[in-house]
Amino acid sequence: MKFSVITLFPEMVEVPLSASMVGRAREKGIVQLELLSLRDFCEGKHRVADDAPFGGGGGMVLKAEPIVKAVKMAKMGQPDAKVIFLGPQGRTLDHTMVMGLLKESGFILICGHYEGVDQRALDSVVDEEISIGDYVLSGGEYAACVFVDALTRQLPGVLGDEDSAKHDSFYDGLLDFPHYTRPAEGAEGKVPEVLMSGNHEEVAKWRRQQALLATLKKRPDLIEKAELSNEEKAYIQQQRGQL
Ligand code: ADE
Repeated sequence: MKFSVITLFPEMVEVPLSASMVGRAREKGIVQLELLSLRDFCEGKHRVADDAPFGGGGGMVLKAEPIVKAVKMAKMGQPDAKVIFLGPQGRTLDHTMVMGLLKESGFILICGHYEGVDQRALDSVVDEEISIGDYVLSGGEYAACVFVDALTRQLPGVLGDEDSAKHDSFYDGLLDFPHYTRPAEGAEGKVPEVLMSGNHEEVAKWRRQQALLATLKKRPDLIEKAELSNEEKAYIQQQRGQL
């Protein structure tokens, strides 16, 4: 999967996406990252990317032309890519959306900055606007990193079997169960006995119950939508009474 990121600040994207899981996925060739510096598509001696808004008001607006030119350039390398503008007015990214987007071969991600982007750029080249949450960032760069990370970890061969994304929170509509490692007993307390029993069936049962409990306590809205067996529904009812 290829990600082309159009930004005024390439280093804000390059550095985080060179480390850890995404860095390894790039080394393995599972994902490709291309950075297009918006400045390279700006005209004039000073390569100015922004200008004052028509109609007045504060802040500066990113010009349409450099963005459109950068998208055209990125499209040469991946004509079928989906063009996404990262901005707070978009559809909020969640697990279901991430899984749906995996069918795409690649993405061209546009990072906005300043007060906004000339609407004509959005109208002419963008397929979809995506937000990473209901708050405003000073630019789309961190959102682009979040987007690339969330998709990359779902691609085959990126995570090992042991830490497969199947165990992630949200994978089955529930939050993740709690994790423990050595020492079995320390100043911070003891590890639950069942995890050291060697009984895989009991461990799996305990983990499922803990995932149900964590979801009920922290995100009760998710419980309503999760697919649960009748036994699990009864367990939830019983636990609700005790909360
Ligand atoms: N750019 C500014 N705020 C944003 C947000 N919430 N999500 C994605 N991109 C953004």
